[in-house]
Amino acid sequence: MRIGVFDSGLGGIATLKDLIKYKPNNEYIYFGDTINLPYGEKTKEELKEYADKIINFLKEKEVDMIIIACGTISSNIYEEIKDSYGIPIYDIINPICNYLENKCHDVLLLATSMTIRSKVFKSKLEEKNIKVYDKECPMFVPIIEGKNKEDINKYIEEYLIDYKNKNIDLIIPGCTHYPLISKELENYLNVKVLDIGYIIASSLDIKDSKKGLEIYFSKIDDSLLENVKRIIGDTEIKLKKL
Ligand code: DGL
Repeated sequence: MRIGVFDSGLGGIATLKDLIKYKPNNEYIYFGDTINLPYGEKTKEELKEYADKIINFLKEKEVDMIIIACGTISSNIYEEIKDSYGIPIYDIINPICNYLENKCHDVLLLATSMTIRSKVFKSKLEEKNIKVYDKECPMFVPIIEGKNKEDINKYIEEYLIDYKNKNIDLIIPGCTHYPLISKELENYLNVKVLDIGYIIASSLDIKDSKKGLEIYFSKIDDSLLENVKRIIGDTEIKLKKL
């Protein structure tokens, strides 16, 4: 199948890596909206405008389905837009919440400001009888995308210190960027970070076809290319600017 995947940047690339790992025989067309990053600080109207452009672009590429590899779009506008484009569109929140039913008790949901403030992710987890602590982590995305990687532990301490003495059994990365700092999060709280890429990939009913990969970004620089190569694990990868 031809599968469109999108996000603001590297978070969706982390999801794409897992889609390729668990569902390899498909053609993936990825769009990263780096020019509008971070999505987590945008208004709903802005998010709708960005998603509309990207979904139409992916439709022009004749994809069979679209995966929104973004917690912010999934929580803020997915329900409004999912039936508007005549093509199956999948979010990341529903598969994660369905998967977690009866698997955990007290979780720490970390996500962007827009995702946490929408309360959508939290209430869908609570519907599964899960107790949810939630925390906005606005500095994580700029650090993951940027150059000051050494600052990450400072912000992990700032955002997570209050959860050290809570009885949390699972950290949920409610932003697709956060699996890229799973080890650091696990080390700080000594709690497992949920493997959302595996859950998203295994929730999809995808028929095998031929392999393919095209990656587009709205803004590209050398460090982006290096990061994509590192995450996907392919040094030959090429990025196209749109
Ligand atoms: N990775 C996206 C998310 O899951 C977007 C993060 C951002 O651009 O702020 O929320």
